Amino acid sequence: MNNPANPVIPPDIRCAQDYEFAAQRIMAEPSYAYVAGGSGRDLTVAANLAAFAQWSVYPRVLRDVSDGHTRLKLGQQTFLHPILLAPVAFQKLAHPAGEIDTARAACAMDACMVCSTLSSCLLEDVAHAAGPHKWFQLYFQANRDDTRNLLARAEAAGFGAIVVTLDASIQVPSARALQAGFRMPPDCVAVNLQATNAGETIELAPDDSRIFQGAMRAAPTWSDLTWLMAETSLPVWVKGVLHPDDALALKAAGVAGIVVSNHGGRSLDGAPASLTVLPAIRAVVGDEYPLLLDGGIRSGADIFKVLALGANAVLVGRLQMYALSVAGALGVAHMIKLLREELEICMAQAGCATLAEINSNALLRSL
Ligand code: FNR
Repeated sequence: MNNPANPVIPPDIRCAQDYEFAAQRIMAEPSYAYVAGGSGRDLTVAANLAAFAQWSVYPRVLRDVSDGHTRLKLGQQTFLHPILLAPVAFQKLAHPAGEIDTARAACAMDACMVCSTLSSCLLEDVAHAAGPHKWFQLYFQANRDDTRNLLARAEAAGFGAIVVTLDASIQVPSARALQAGFRMPPDCVAVNLQATNAGETIELAPDDSRIFQGAMRAAPTWSDLTWLMAETSLPVWVKGVLHPDDALALKAAGVAGIVVSNHGGRSLDGAPASLTVLPAIRAVVGDEYPLLLDGGIRSGADIFKVLALGANAVLVGRLQMYALSVAGALGVAHMIKLLREELEICMAQAGCATLAEINSNALLRSL
Protein backbone atom coordinates (compact mmCIF):
# COMPACT_ATOMS: atom_id res chain seq x y z
CA MET A 1 0.00 0.00 0.00
CA ASN A 2 1.30 3.44 -0.96
CA ASN A 3 1.88 5.91 1.88
CA PRO A 4 -0.75 8.66 1.36
CA ALA A 5 1.63 11.24 2.90
CA ASN A 6 4.48 10.42 0.55
CA PRO A 7 3.11 8.72 -2.56
CA VAL A 8 5.25 7.21 -5.26
CA ILE A 9 4.21 6.03 -8.70
CA PRO A 10 4.66 2.25 -8.88
CA PRO A 11 7.33 1.35 -11.46
CA ASP A 12 4.96 -0.96 -13.32
CA ILE A 13 2.64 1.90 -14.33
CA ARG A 14 3.49 2.44 -18.00
CA CYS A 15 0.15 3.42 -19.48
CA ALA A 16 -3.01 5.00 -18.07
CA GLN A 17 -4.89 1.71 -17.82
CA ASP A 18 -2.16 0.25 -15.62
CA TYR A 19 -3.76 2.29 -12.81
CA GLU A 20 -6.77 -0.01 -13.06
CA PHE A 21 -4.63 -3.09 -12.43
CA ALA A 22 -2.63 -1.38 -9.67
CA ALA A 23 -5.85 -0.24 -7.95
CA GLN A 24 -7.19 -3.76 -8.04
CA ARG A 25 -4.15 -4.84 -6.03
CA ILE A 26 -4.25 -1.86 -3.64
CA MET A 27 -7.93 -1.20 -2.89
CA ALA A 28 -9.95 -3.30 -0.48
CA GLU A 29 -11.82 -5.81 -2.60
CA PRO A 30 -15.35 -4.53 -1.78
CA SER A 31 -14.34 -0.93 -2.57
CA TYR A 32 -12.79 -1.95 -5.86
CA ALA A 33 -15.94 -3.92 -6.71
CA TYR A 34 -18.09 -0.86 -5.94
CA VAL A 35 -16.03 1.38 -8.24
CA ALA A 36 -15.53 -1.13 -11.04
CA GLY A 37 -19.06 -2.53 -11.06
CA GLY A 38 -22.08 -1.24 -12.91
CA SER A 39 -25.74 -1.64 -12.15
CA GLY A 40 -27.21 -5.11 -12.25
CA ARG A 41 -25.11 -7.57 -14.23
CA ASP A 42 -22.64 -5.15 -15.85
CA LEU A 43 -23.98 -5.55 -19.41
CA THR A 44 -23.46 -1.88 -20.17
CA VAL A 45 -20.07 -1.75 -18.44
CA ALA A 46 -18.97 -4.50 -20.84
CA ALA A 47 -20.63 -2.79 -23.84
CA ASN A 48 -18.77 0.47 -23.16
CA LEU A 49 -15.43 -1.32 -23.28
CA ALA A 50 -16.29 -3.58 -26.22
CA ALA A 51 -17.42 -0.63 -28.37
CA PHE A 52 -13.86 0.67 -28.60
CA ALA A 53 -12.58 -2.67 -29.88
CA GLN A 54 -14.93 -2.39 -32.87
CA TRP A 55 -12.88 0.43 -34.36
CA SER A 56 -9.31 0.50 -35.64
CA VAL A 57 -7.29 3.64 -36.34
CA TYR A 58 -5.61 4.05 -39.75
CA PRO A 59 -1.95 4.97 -39.53
CA ARG A 60 -0.93 7.58 -42.14
CA VAL A 61 2.50 8.35 -43.58
CA LEU A 62 4.52 11.39 -44.61
CA ARG A 63 2.25 13.95 -42.94
CA ASP A 64 3.91 16.89 -41.21
CA VAL A 65 2.51 17.08 -37.68
CA SER A 66 5.46 18.94 -36.16
CA ASP A 67 3.24 21.92 -35.23
CA GLY A 68 0.72 19.61 -33.61
CA HIS A 69 -1.17 20.36 -30.41
CA THR A 70 -4.26 19.21 -28.50
CA ARG A 71 -5.79 22.59 -27.62
CA LEU A 72 -9.53 23.15 -27.90
CA LYS A 73 -12.25 25.62 -26.99
CA LEU A 74 -15.34 24.53 -25.11
CA GLY A 75 -17.87 27.28 -24.65
CA GLN A 76 -15.85 30.33 -23.61
CA GLN A 77 -12.98 28.29 -22.11
CA THR A 78 -9.75 27.17 -23.79
CA PHE A 79 -8.23 23.85 -22.69
CA LEU A 80 -4.77 22.43 -23.39
CA HIS A 81 -6.22 18.97 -24.00
CA PRO A 82 -9.65 17.30 -24.30
CA ILE A 83 -9.54 15.29 -21.04
CA LEU A 84 -11.98 16.22 -18.26
CA LEU A 85 -12.46 14.46 -14.95
CA ALA A 86 -15.99 13.05 -14.73
CA PRO A 87 -18.04 13.61 -11.60
CA VAL A 88 -17.30 10.67 -9.31
CA ALA A 89 -18.93 10.49 -5.89
CA PHE A 90 -17.36 9.60 -2.54
CA GLN A 91 -13.69 9.87 -3.48
CA LYS A 92 -12.57 9.36 0.13
CA LEU A 93 -13.28 5.73 -0.66
CA ALA A 94 -10.12 5.78 -2.78
CA HIS A 95 -7.90 8.13 -0.75
CA PRO A 96 -8.13 9.99 2.58
CA ALA A 97 -7.80 13.37 0.83
CA GLY A 98 -10.64 12.47 -1.54
CA GLU A 99 -11.77 15.10 -4.05
CA ILE A 100 -9.22 17.64 -2.81
CA ASP A 101 -6.36 15.59 -4.26
CA THR A 102 -8.25 15.08 -7.51
CA ALA A 103 -8.77 18.85 -7.72
CA ARG A 104 -5.06 19.51 -7.12
CA ALA A 105 -4.19 17.09 -9.93
CA ALA A 106 -6.71 18.71 -12.27
CA CYS A 107 -5.19 22.10 -11.49
CA ALA A 108 -1.63 20.87 -12.17
CA MET A 109 -2.62 19.26 -15.47
CA ASP A 110 -4.97 22.01 -16.75
CA ALA A 111 -7.84 19.54 -16.72
CA CYS A 112 -11.42 20.52 -15.95
CA MET A 113 -12.69 18.76 -12.85
CA VAL A 114 -16.42 18.16 -12.59
CA CYS A 115 -17.18 17.98 -8.86
CA SER A 116 -20.03 15.63 -7.91
CA THR A 117 -22.99 16.67 -5.77
CA LEU A 118 -22.06 13.54 -3.81
CA SER A 119 -18.52 14.72 -3.13
CA SER A 120 -17.07 13.54 0.18
CA CYS A 121 -15.31 16.94 0.54
CA LEU A 122 -16.97 20.34 0.79
CA LEU A 123 -17.57 21.79 -2.66
CA GLU A 124 -16.01 25.10 -1.54
CA ASP A 125 -12.76 23.30 -0.60
CA VAL A 126 -12.75 21.39 -3.89
CA ALA A 127 -13.22 24.65 -5.82
CA HIS A 128 -10.38 26.24 -3.90
CA ALA A 129 -7.99 23.38 -4.74
CA ALA A 130 -9.06 23.11 -8.39
CA GLY A 131 -7.62 25.33 -11.11
CA PRO A 132 -9.48 27.76 -13.32
CA HIS A 133 -11.36 24.91 -15.00
CA LYS A 134 -13.97 23.54 -12.63
CA TRP A 135 -17.59 22.64 -13.18
CA PHE A 136 -20.20 21.44 -10.69
CA GLN A 137 -22.31 18.33 -11.28
CA LEU A 138 -25.81 18.77 -9.94
CA TYR A 139 -28.33 16.18 -8.89
CA PHE A 140 -31.80 17.68 -8.54
CA GLN A 141 -32.81 17.49 -4.90
CA ALA A 142 -36.25 16.45 -3.71
CA ASN A 143 -37.23 20.06 -3.16
CA ARG A 144 -36.26 23.18 -5.05
CA ASP A 145 -34.90 25.07 -2.06
CA ASP A 146 -32.23 22.43 -1.57
CA THR A 147 -31.36 22.46 -5.28
CA ARG A 148 -31.27 26.29 -5.24
CA ASN A 149 -28.98 26.21 -2.22
CA LEU A 150 -26.50 23.87 -3.95
CA LEU A 151 -26.57 26.04 -7.07
CA ALA A 152 -25.92 29.21 -5.10
CA ARG A 153 -23.00 27.58 -3.28
CA ALA A 154 -21.51 26.31 -6.57
CA GLU A 155 -21.79 29.77 -8.13
CA ALA A 156 -20.27 31.48 -5.08
CA ALA A 157 -17.40 28.96 -5.03
CA GLY A 158 -16.45 29.88 -8.61
CA PHE A 159 -17.54 26.83 -10.61
CA GLY A 160 -17.79 27.79 -14.28
CA ALA A 161 -20.67 25.56 -15.39
CA ILE A 162 -23.40 23.30 -14.06
CA VAL A 163 -23.55 19.72 -15.34
CA VAL A 164 -26.94 18.33 -14.42
CA THR A 165 -27.04 14.54 -14.42
CA LEU A 166 -30.39 13.15 -15.56
CA ASP A 167 -29.79 9.41 -15.86
CA ALA A 168 -29.61 8.41 -12.21
CA SER A 169 -33.05 8.92 -10.71
CA ILE A 170 -33.12 5.26 -9.81
CA GLN A 171 -30.03 3.60 -8.40
CA VAL A 172 -29.90 -0.12 -9.04
CA PRO A 173 -27.38 -1.89 -6.82
CA SER A 174 -24.36 -3.47 -8.43
CA ALA A 175 -24.42 -7.27 -8.24
CA ARG A 176 -20.64 -7.20 -8.11
CA ALA A 177 -20.51 -4.80 -5.15
CA LEU A 178 -23.24 -6.75 -3.32
CA GLN A 179 -21.39 -10.02 -3.81
CA ALA A 180 -18.22 -8.45 -2.44
CA GLY A 181 -20.13 -7.26 0.64
CA PHE A 182 -19.54 -3.55 -0.05
CA ARG A 183 -20.69 -1.05 2.59
CA MET A 184 -19.94 2.68 2.35
CA PRO A 185 -17.44 3.48 5.14
CA PRO A 186 -18.70 5.95 7.78
CA ASP A 187 -16.17 8.66 6.79
CA CYS A 188 -17.48 8.62 3.22
CA VAL A 189 -20.43 10.97 3.40
CA ALA A 190 -22.09 13.33 0.93
CA VAL A 191 -21.04 16.29 3.08
CA ASN A 192 -22.64 18.87 0.82
CA LEU A 193 -26.07 17.39 1.41
CA GLN A 194 -26.04 16.99 5.16
CA ALA A 195 -28.33 19.93 5.75
CA THR A 196 -30.96 18.71 3.30
CA ASN A 197 -33.91 16.39 3.76
CA ALA A 198 -32.37 13.64 1.61
CA GLY A 199 -33.41 10.96 4.10
CA GLU A 200 -37.10 11.88 3.93
CA THR A 201 -39.37 8.82 3.97
CA ILE A 202 -42.33 8.52 1.63
CA GLU A 203 -45.76 7.20 2.65
CA LEU A 204 -46.94 4.70 0.02
CA ALA A 205 -50.49 3.37 -0.28
CA PRO A 206 -50.71 -0.46 -0.68
CA ASP A 207 -51.40 -0.25 -4.43
CA ASP A 208 -48.65 2.30 -5.08
CA SER A 209 -45.55 1.24 -6.99
CA ARG A 210 -42.32 1.49 -5.02
CA ILE A 211 -40.68 2.64 -8.26
CA PHE A 212 -43.18 5.04 -9.87
CA GLN A 213 -44.66 6.63 -6.74
CA GLY A 214 -41.50 6.03 -4.68
CA ALA A 215 -38.09 6.60 -6.26
CA MET A 216 -39.46 8.42 -9.31
CA ARG A 217 -41.68 10.79 -7.33
CA ALA A 218 -38.88 13.34 -7.06
CA ALA A 219 -37.29 12.59 -10.45
CA PRO A 220 -36.84 15.72 -12.57
CA THR A 221 -38.95 16.45 -15.64
CA TRP A 222 -38.67 19.05 -18.42
CA SER A 223 -40.19 21.76 -16.25
CA ASP A 224 -37.43 21.27 -13.67
CA LEU A 225 -34.77 21.75 -16.33
CA THR A 226 -36.46 24.94 -17.54
CA TRP A 227 -36.58 26.15 -13.94
CA LEU A 228 -32.90 25.33 -13.43
CA MET A 229 -31.80 27.23 -16.53
CA ALA A 230 -33.72 30.30 -15.38
CA GLU A 231 -32.30 29.99 -11.87
CA THR A 232 -28.59 30.17 -12.77
CA SER A 233 -26.50 32.46 -14.91
CA LEU A 234 -23.97 29.66 -15.46
CA PRO A 235 -24.02 27.52 -18.61
CA VAL A 236 -26.05 24.35 -18.00
CA TRP A 237 -24.83 21.08 -19.53
CA VAL A 238 -26.85 17.87 -19.37
CA LYS A 239 -25.14 14.55 -18.61
CA GLY A 240 -26.62 11.13 -19.24
CA VAL A 241 -28.09 11.37 -22.73
CA LEU A 242 -28.12 8.44 -25.18
CA HIS A 243 -31.13 9.01 -27.43
CA PRO A 244 -30.82 11.37 -30.43
CA ASP A 245 -34.37 12.70 -29.86
CA ASP A 246 -33.46 13.73 -26.30
CA ALA A 247 -30.28 15.37 -27.57
CA LEU A 248 -32.20 17.36 -30.16
CA ALA A 249 -34.82 18.50 -27.64
CA LEU A 250 -32.12 19.51 -25.13
CA LYS A 251 -30.32 21.56 -27.76
CA ALA A 252 -33.62 23.24 -28.66
CA ALA A 253 -34.20 23.98 -24.95
CA GLY A 254 -30.98 26.00 -24.87
CA VAL A 255 -28.74 23.59 -22.98
CA ALA A 256 -25.06 24.63 -23.38
CA GLY A 257 -23.88 21.14 -24.31
CA ILE A 258 -24.50 17.45 -23.75
CA VAL A 259 -22.50 14.68 -22.14
CA VAL A 260 -23.27 11.46 -24.00
CA SER A 261 -23.10 8.98 -21.15
CA ASN A 262 -24.68 5.91 -19.59
CA HIS A 263 -23.17 6.71 -16.18
CA GLY A 264 -20.36 4.26 -16.82
CA GLY A 265 -22.92 1.44 -16.96
CA ARG A 266 -24.18 2.27 -13.47
CA SER A 267 -27.71 3.27 -14.44
CA LEU A 268 -29.81 1.27 -16.97
CA ASP A 269 -28.10 -2.10 -17.33
CA GLY A 270 -28.60 -2.95 -20.99
CA ALA A 271 -28.31 0.63 -22.24
CA PRO A 272 -26.15 0.98 -25.35
CA ALA A 273 -22.49 1.90 -25.18
CA SER A 274 -21.92 5.66 -25.25
CA LEU A 275 -19.57 5.32 -28.22
CA THR A 276 -22.18 3.38 -30.21
CA VAL A 277 -24.79 6.15 -30.05
CA LEU A 278 -22.38 9.06 -30.51
CA PRO A 279 -22.47 9.30 -34.34
CA ALA A 280 -26.28 9.45 -34.40
CA ILE A 281 -26.31 12.16 -31.75
CA ARG A 282 -23.68 14.22 -33.57
CA ALA A 283 -25.75 13.87 -36.75
CA VAL A 284 -28.88 15.39 -35.19
CA VAL A 285 -27.27 18.22 -33.20
CA GLY A 286 -25.04 19.43 -36.05
CA ASP A 287 -21.29 20.04 -36.28
CA GLU A 288 -21.02 23.05 -33.99
CA TYR A 289 -22.94 21.92 -30.91
CA PRO A 290 -20.71 21.01 -27.89
CA LEU A 291 -20.74 17.27 -27.19
CA LEU A 292 -18.73 15.41 -24.60
CA LEU A 293 -18.68 11.65 -24.01
CA ASP A 294 -17.76 9.31 -21.22
CA GLY A 295 -17.91 5.57 -20.63
CA GLY A 296 -15.14 3.00 -21.02
CA ILE A 297 -12.23 5.32 -21.79
CA ARG A 298 -9.00 3.62 -20.74
CA SER A 299 -6.42 4.94 -23.23
CA GLY A 300 -5.44 7.81 -25.49
CA ALA A 301 -6.42 5.73 -28.52
CA ASP A 302 -9.91 5.45 -26.99
CA ILE A 303 -10.03 9.24 -26.78
CA PHE A 304 -8.97 9.50 -30.43
CA LYS A 305 -11.87 7.22 -31.43
CA VAL A 306 -14.36 9.30 -29.42
CA LEU A 307 -13.19 12.50 -31.12
CA ALA A 308 -13.25 10.81 -34.54
CA LEU A 309 -16.87 9.76 -33.99
CA GLY A 310 -18.03 13.24 -33.12
CA ALA A 311 -17.35 14.40 -29.53
CA ASN A 312 -15.30 17.51 -28.72
CA ALA A 313 -13.77 16.09 -25.55
CA VAL A 314 -14.06 13.22 -23.08
CA LEU A 315 -14.50 12.67 -19.37
CA VAL A 316 -12.80 9.87 -17.47
CA GLY A 317 -14.50 8.33 -14.46
CA ARG A 318 -13.07 5.14 -13.02
CA LEU A 319 -9.48 5.81 -14.11
CA GLN A 320 -9.36 8.85 -11.81
CA MET A 321 -10.55 6.79 -8.82
CA TYR A 322 -7.98 4.10 -9.60
CA ALA A 323 -5.13 6.61 -9.94
CA LEU A 324 -6.28 8.41 -6.78
CA SER A 325 -6.21 5.18 -4.80
CA VAL A 326 -2.71 4.33 -6.04
CA ALA A 327 -0.92 7.65 -5.53
CA GLY A 328 -3.33 10.47 -4.60
CA ALA A 329 -2.95 13.75 -6.50
CA LEU A 330 0.32 12.57 -7.99
CA GLY A 331 -1.37 9.49 -9.41
CA VAL A 332 -4.29 11.41 -10.91
CA ALA A 333 -1.93 13.98 -12.47
CA HIS A 334 0.25 11.18 -13.85
CA MET A 335 -2.76 9.34 -15.23
CA ILE A 336 -3.89 12.49 -17.10
CA LYS A 337 -0.33 13.01 -18.41
CA LEU A 338 -0.22 9.42 -19.68
CA LEU A 339 -3.63 9.71 -21.35
CA ARG A 340 -2.61 12.95 -23.04
CA GLU A 341 0.66 11.45 -24.30
CA GLU A 342 -1.16 8.36 -25.56
CA LEU A 343 -3.58 10.62 -27.44
CA GLU A 344 -0.69 12.60 -28.94
CA ILE A 345 1.05 9.40 -30.05
CA CYS A 346 -2.15 8.19 -31.69
CA MET A 347 -2.68 11.56 -33.41
CA ALA A 348 0.89 11.63 -34.68
CA GLN A 349 0.69 8.10 -36.05
CA ALA A 350 -2.69 8.82 -37.64
CA GLY A 351 -1.29 11.98 -39.22
CA CYS A 352 -3.56 14.40 -37.35
CA ALA A 353 -1.85 17.57 -36.10
CA THR A 354 -4.88 19.02 -34.31
CA LEU A 355 -8.09 17.74 -32.76
CA ALA A 356 -10.01 19.39 -35.60
CA GLU A 357 -8.26 17.08 -38.09
CA ILE A 358 -9.56 13.95 -36.34
CA ASN A 359 -12.65 12.61 -38.07
CA SER A 360 -14.31 9.33 -39.00
CA ASN A 361 -12.05 8.91 -42.07
CA ALA A 362 -9.31 8.06 -39.58
CA LEU A 363 -11.21 4.97 -38.40
CA LEU A 364 -11.99 1.57 -39.87
CA ARG A 365 -14.85 -0.48 -38.46
CA SER A 366 -13.17 -3.76 -37.74
CA LEU A 367 -15.97 -5.93 -36.33
C1 FNR B 1 -19.80 7.72 -11.10
N1 FNR B 1 -20.50 8.56 -11.97
C2 FNR B 1 -21.16 9.66 -11.48
N2 FNR B 1 -21.81 10.51 -12.34
C3 FNR B 1 -22.43 11.62 -11.87
O1 FNR B 1 -22.99 12.37 -12.67
N3 FNR B 1 -22.42 11.90 -10.52
C4 FNR B 1 -21.82 11.09 -9.62
O2 FNR B 1 -21.84 11.37 -8.43
C5 FNR B 1 -21.19 9.91 -10.10
N4 FNR B 1 -20.59 9.04 -9.22
C6 FNR B 1 -19.87 7.96 -9.71
C7 FNR B 1 -19.19 7.13 -8.82
C8 FNR B 1 -18.43 6.08 -9.30
C9 FNR B 1 -17.68 5.21 -8.33
C10 FNR B 1 -18.32 5.87 -10.69
C11 FNR B 1 -17.46 4.75 -11.26
C12 FNR B 1 -19.01 6.67 -11.58
C13 FNR B 1 -20.44 8.33 -13.44
C14 FNR B 1 -19.23 9.05 -14.04
O3 FNR B 1 -19.42 10.44 -14.03
C15 FNR B 1 -19.02 8.65 -15.52
O4 FNR B 1 -20.21 8.83 -16.23
C16 FNR B 1 -18.52 7.22 -15.70
O5 FNR B 1 -17.67 6.84 -14.64
C17 FNR B 1 -17.78 7.10 -17.02
O6 FNR B 1 -17.37 5.80 -17.27
P1 FNR B 1 -15.89 5.24 -16.95
O7 FNR B 1 -14.89 6.28 -17.38
O8 FNR B 1 -15.86 5.03 -15.47
O9 FNR B 1 -15.83 3.99 -17.70
